[in-house]
Amino acid sequence: PKVVFSGIQPTGVPHLGNYLGALRQWADLQSSASPSDKLIFSIVDLHAITQRQAPEALRLHRREMLAAILAVGIDPNRSIVFEQSRVPQHAELMWILSCGASTGYLSRMTQWKSKLGVGEDADAFASGNNTPRLKLGLFSYPVLQAADILVHRATEVPVGEDQAQHLEFTREVAGTFHSSYGTVFPLPKTVLSPARRVMSLRDPLQKMSKSDPQPPSRILLIDTPEEISKKFQKAVTDSEEGVTYDPRARPGVSNLVQIYAHMQRRTDFHNVANELKDCTMKELKDKVAGIVIEGLRPIRDEYERISKEGDRYLEIVAEEGARKARESAEETMVLVRHAMGLA
Ligand code: TYM
Repeated sequence: PKVVFSGIQPTGVPHLGNYLGALRQWADLQSSASPSDKLIFSIVDLHAITQRQAPEALRLHRREMLAAILAVGIDPNRSIVFEQSRVPQHAELMWILSCGASTGYLSRMTQWKSKLGVGEDADAFASGNNTPRLKLGLFSYPVLQAADILVHRATEVPVGEDQAQHLEFTREVAGTFHSSYGTVFPLPKTVLSPARRVMSLRDPLQKMSKSDPQPPSRILLIDTPEEISKKFQKAVTDSEEGVTYDPRARPGVSNLVQIYAHMQRRTDFHNVANELKDCTMKELKDKVAGIVIEGLRPIRDEYERISKEGDRYLEIVAEEGARKARESAEETMVLVRHAMGLA
């Protein structure tokens, strides 16, 4: 049987990139799973605190993310949905794995560099007087991610392309553990969704992201139809005539074509562009907005319904999910502690 694990940071209501790159895939895997498969989805609040968070905002954003995960169709009676901080085994395994994790490997990872805005210029960064800015938690972020996956002995991890590097690291860390203590973990497979990288509407060379300071750069799953139309109307394209698919030469237009295709579960982008070839930019944007509005409508309705049920309902779901996740993680930790002489 498969064990599917994935995680998402509590950034509040997720954006279209999170949805097409991850959440929709989670729901698909849930529908196609056989009864013996285990599905586990985590709101990774311990990862979120590698960036400073205001406590009230974090509380709110965890709740919003949970409501959104349910709204896209994850069924808490079928899948385990939980908040990472309620399952202490994640942090316990992280410590154990960090004892075998190479700082050289971690220093080559790109995420902390982009979070600190040091780009690829990491050597200059490290030799300068900047190191106090790099906190240990942000540096070791991938070790906690490896622990998330391994503590449930996951076999598949559905993610967007930006997480592929972290999954390679996970397999590396598992291999190191195995050569010291014997095999405990399956080596988890990376499952990339067809929408690997949805780009920003304001800068199509950057991925759509919650940390972009410009809200019009992203569509949120509960944006109103008016907001969605407005954001697409403002999307950066180019001044060429007609629609073609060429991500290098026409990144903005190609991103819109991709979004239009993914909303229909198509990946034949050239054909899709060809069907749209006579559209003006305004017509293209209207069409993309229309299909996104229709596609997100049921999610927005469901989110509203869940919000009306109130915090008590979400608290019950979170507590029940955490209980099941602790059980799943503890089974692995018994093996880990035994293998290491910690039992
Ligand atoms: P996070 O919270 O940044 O993103 C959650 C998921 O959404 C995908 N994603 C995108 N896909 C396509 N286009 C985009 N513009 C886009 N933006 C985000 C991400 O690839 C991801 O699948 N480190 C992880 C969270 C994590 C995790 C884990 C994931 C912690 N532990 C264990 C898998 C397994 C993160 O920050 O994702």
